[in-house]
Amino acid sequence: MSTAYLNGAFRPLSETRVSVMDRGFLFGDGVYEVIPVYGGRLFRLTHHLKRLQDSLDSVRIANPLSTDAWETMLSELVGCNGGGDQAVYLQVTRGVAPKRDHAFPENTSPTLFAMSTPMAASVDIQGVAGTAAITLPDIRWKLCNIKAITLLPNVLLRQQAIDREGAEAILIKDGFAIEGAASNIFIVKNGLLITPANGPALLPGITRDLILELAARDAIPFREADISEAALFDADEIWLTSSTREISPVIRLDDRRISGGAPGPLWRRMIGLYQDYKTAVRNGEAR
Ligand code: PDD
Repeated sequence: MSTAYLNGAFRPLSETRVSVMDRGFLFGDGVYEVIPVYGGRLFRLTHHLKRLQDSLDSVRIANPLSTDAWETMLSELVGCNGGGDQAVYLQVTRGVAPKRDHAFPENTSPTLFAMSTPMAASVDIQGVAGTAAITLPDIRWKLCNIKAITLLPNVLLRQQAIDREGAEAILIKDGFAIEGAASNIFIVKNGLLITPANGPALLPGITRDLILELAARDAIPFREADISEAALFDADEIWLTSSTREISPVIRLDDRRISGGAPGPLWRRMIGLYQDYKTAVRNGEAR
């Protein structure tokens, strides 16, 4: 049985409850993180906690825990759930208020919730066939750099992709590809790796940043630049990245074949580097 954490206590997930007056429930007033765990070790924890702090600052919620306290709590949660490979979900909401009012309540402490789900073991690189994606207009708000729990647009966008037998929706804004409904985007053109620069239009993905680090380390040419819709369809390769998908090669976009209908050579190289990094984390040689 899965163990969850709520406001200082560990309990079975099925017995974990929050009040209906929680502002997360009533307003979607909170922020979250999803952190992969490999071999019982939290992947890029410092980066996730830094982004959490940025999200909390942006929505004016005080961080309920110190960095050390976060690490202690999350490690305990991972241990309670048997170590190995997991995806930890955590969220912080503005807390439970006495009445429903848009204005911030006074003297309310944040609600802190975390749970963990098992993650599939390592990727069989040879077995990855690639996925289909569709393009859709980006209907989200103007602060997409905040990892807010308010995800109704993302939910509607992802479901449209699923309804059309795609794995993800790539969001187009003012003629440019921004990111996926729950992933960042990369394209490859003539050997150059391109991803949009961070800013308020997209989430600063932890996987995205690691890929840029690995590219720099392995002398793979890359650039942070806008990707026009035309460049997207003309790409040699398209990848979607996230903590749970890692690096997913797109082989069909709307009704077009991408990358000859199979994962491309730079994807193969990068997924190898990514798997090596995961192995280093498992062995305690990287974080
Ligand atoms: N989503 N962009 C959006 C809109 C996302 O929701 C996510 C991740 C990413 C990738 O970020 P990272 O590499 O840090 O996981 C980009 C998580 C996994 C989710 O909502 O479940």
